Amino acid sequence: MTTALITGSTSGIGAAFARRLAADGHDLVLVARDTKRLREQATELHDRHGIEAEVLTADLATDEGIGAVEARLTDRKRPVDLLINNAGFGNKGQYLEVPLADELTMLKVHCEAVLRLTSAAVAPMRERGRGGVVNVASVAAFVPRGTYGASKAWVVQFTQGAARDLAGSGVRLMALCPGFVRTEFHERADMGTDNIPKWMWLDADKLVAAALADLARGKSLSIPDPRYKTLMGVVKLAPRGLLGGVTAKTGRKYGPQ
Ligand SMILES: NC(=O)c1ccc[n+]([C@@H]2O[C@H](COP(=O)([O-])OP(=O)(O)OC[C@H]3O[C@@H](n4cnc5c(N)ncnc54)[C@H](OP(=O)(O)O)[C@@H]3O)[C@@H](O)[C@H]2O)c1
Repeated sequence: MTTALITGSTSGIGAAFARRLAADGHDLVLVARDTKRLREQATELHDRHGIEAEVLTADLATDEGIGAVEARLTDRKRPVDLLINNAGFGNKGQYLEVPLADELTMLKVHCEAVLRLTSAAVAPMRERGRGGVVNVASVAAFVPRGTYGASKAWVVQFTQGAARDLAGSGVRLMALCPGFVRTEFHERADMGTDNIPKWMWLDADKLVAAALADLARGKSLSIPDPRYKTLMGVVKLAPRGLLGGVTAKTGRKYGPQ
């Protein structure tokens, strides 16, 4: 029996990871801020799949919260085999419209927590000669689109660099770059989504299935949908100035309304 720890497990992409990994027979450590919701999720997954689901309440925007998850990941008596760094959020508004404190909170959750939790998980995994880390980034990492995309670009660069450094150790690291996924993400940030074309929306369960297949294949970067793979191919070739304009139109309109 292996154990997976998922941050941001109670909703959206994290909940899809929890469903899939529980169905595959993995024990889980579920991390988020809402204890009641975590307990309900743990009970449901235990009852449905017969796995052990542990609840760890932690706010990854705080040192205390990150420290609590680091402590769990480095507990050698209860090894964690797979870490899914998924917790994240968006701030509504363009650069300078968002208070600096909120921007810093985003960097804490998207970058500092990801760095510290990956490092805590990987050290014992390397000793055992096996393990995996999935860091949830975004296709926004590849387009010049504000501080959210910048934080996710950090996640991609960090993860692929670390994957290279750990090659041959038995530990796999992969950055996962979804496009738009129907979750609580946009609603939580009070972002309207009416202008996002229907074809751009992805299903969280299919996304997770494709991501885990990519991890098993040893990929360090996963863009798990043919539509977005094509789109990102075009993005690579397009001038960055033009990209900024196009993405501002399709994406950023879901900012201030
Ligand atoms: N949805 C999209 O279109 C999309 C696209 C690309 C990438 N992503 C990325 O996918 C990841 C998951 O997003 P989602 O769309 O599934 O969002 P979601 O439905 O809003 O879920 C976010 C999860 O993260 C937890 N969380 C948020 N802030 C936290 C904090 N400070 N500490 C601990 N847990 C926290 C939430 O639970 P609590 O509130 O209880 O803490 C919840 O479980 C994020 O990293 C996001 O940037 C999303």
